[in-house]
Parts: sequence; C-alpha cells; structure tokens
Amino acid sequence: ADINLQEVHDFMIEIARKVGERITSATPSTGAAGSKKNSVDLVTETDQAVEKIISTSLHEKYPSFSFMGEETYKPGDKLTDAPTFILDPIDGTTNFVHRHPYVAISLGLAINQIPTIGIVYNPFTQTLYSGIKGHGSYLTQYLLTPQEKKQRLPLYPPTPLETLNTCLVAVEWGSDRSDNDFRVKSSTFARLAAADGGMVHGLRSLGSAALNLCAVAAGEIDVYWEAGCWAWDVCAGWVVLGEAGGRVVDANPGNWEPRVDERRYLAVRGGEGQEGLIEEFWGLVDGRFEVG
Ligand code: IPD
Repeated sequence: ADINLQEVHDFMIEIARKVGERITSATPSTGAAGSKKNSVDLVTETDQAVEKIISTSLHEKYPSFSFMGEETYKPGDKLTDAPTFILDPIDGTTNFVHRHPYVAISLGLAINQIPTIGIVYNPFTQTLYSGIKGHGSYLTQYLLTPQEKKQRLPLYPPTPLETLNTCLVAVEWGSDRSDNDFRVKSSTFARLAAADGGMVHGLRSLGSAALNLCAVAAGEIDVYWEAGCWAWDVCAGWVVLGEAGGRVVDANPGNWEPRVDERRYLAVRGGEGQEGLIEEFWGLVDGRFEVG
C-alpha cells in the first residue's frame, strides 16, 4: 500500500518532541544498564526507557512496519526491505552522561533499505532537523519566534568546495578504539591537522553522529568522517544531508554508494567541487577501516 510519508514524518516529530522532556528531565544514570562492549560504550537507563516509549508508540500507529533500535538490536539482526523505523533514542550518550547538551533523538524510516524520512531532534536546544526524501530538509528552532522558526537547509548558499585546506572537518573517535581502527583514525587525524600535507581549518567532534550529519547538511561543517557508526546513528541524518545537497560515501576509498548499515562513512556538504573533495579526502586516509 502507498505510505503517506508526510503523515509518518509528522508523527515521528510529534513523538520525538514528547519524549524529549523525558531526556531533559532525567538524571543520567548508567545504573543497571552500564556499558555495552567496553568502558567507553555507555548506555543509560534513559536510553532504554526512551527506546521503549518510542517503539511502542510507533508500533501502535504503524503495526506493519519493522523496527530496529540501538538498545534492542541483537547481533545478526538484519535490515530488510520492509518499511523500518531505525532509532537511536539518545545519540550522544556520552555527552548526555556528562551533561553536555549535545544530544539527539535520531529517528529514521528506511524503505527498501533506503533512508527515506529523517528526524534528528535535540531536546535540550529544542532544535529539529527533518526531511523526507525528495522533499527537502529543514531546521526548526522551537525556541525562536515563529517567523524565524523553520528554515530550509542548507542555511546559506553553498560556496565551492575547493580543497581540504579550506574545510572545517568533523571526525569522531567513537567507542571502537582498538588495533587497526585506532591506527587508521589517529594517523588520519594527524594528517588532517598537520602543517605539511594535512591542513584543514579545524577538527571538530560534536559527539553525536546524527548531529554531525545535520551540521554538514546545514553547511556549518564541510566534511565528516567516521567508522564504527550503526544504522541508527546515520539513517535519519543521511536523509537530512541528502536533501540539502550533501553526499554520503564510504569512508574507505572506492565505494560511492554505501549502505545504511555499512558502518563507515564520509559525508560532504553540497557545493561545487564535492567529488574532487571526496577524492582528496580519500587520498589522505592512512589505511583501511575493517569494522565488523
Ligand atoms: C555514538 C555517537 C558518537 C559516535 C559513535 C556513535 P551513541 O552514538 O554518535 O558521536 O562517534 O560512533 O555510536 O552511542 O551515543 O548512541
């Protein structure tokens, strides 16, 4: 049956707005939840509670849709072609634990494994990034006056992307910091920062993959590179970025069409010179990620 994407999009926003209060009023506690695979891969009771509330509401309204969520994912679960809500209840859990208000509910809908609707909502700043594939993406700031509230992305006409040495670049350490992945990350960061050969204007780590993608969509960050992300970190932000003229490709050189569950991503904002910049970035990556 035909899916009314606008209606689904509006419902996803409604839930995110409602559940946002649950996040801002919580005292972050890892309590029984603790860490997942190592001491820096944190999960709080709020992550789990928020996922439960959202998945229950989605299931009541759209019982035939599938669901994949960070807190209920089991190794081996596969994304299928069915319409699937993909949720990270708190993207930026480490920020949340430390009371750094750079946190988002990242809720996407994939159809045929293609990111189709994206909602990225920061409940602390009451800032929403949202988009529907083929219909543009927007920034809504609920705390501003009505006239200023909703803006189409990107926020400014994109200037040409000439070379990396004029870029502001986001990277993340993520929670996977072992062996080869650590080596590829640290040595690539060093190359980006170095005076000889590297040389970007600055490196940023916002601590939320979803918000990094939205910052690239807005045009506030030129490039974002990370390996180790999961489908729920990227599905929603991918739609927002794609609708703003941005591109997502594999973080390793070679694959221009990565899948939503591929786990290695290079995102570049819209603007003339996008392809050349991707090639330049790939030339700087020191080795290959082999995330499982
Ligand atoms: C993490 C954040 C972080 C990124 C990790 C993600 P979580 O999500 O987005 O910025 O570096 O790769 O897993 O664990 O806070 O939901």
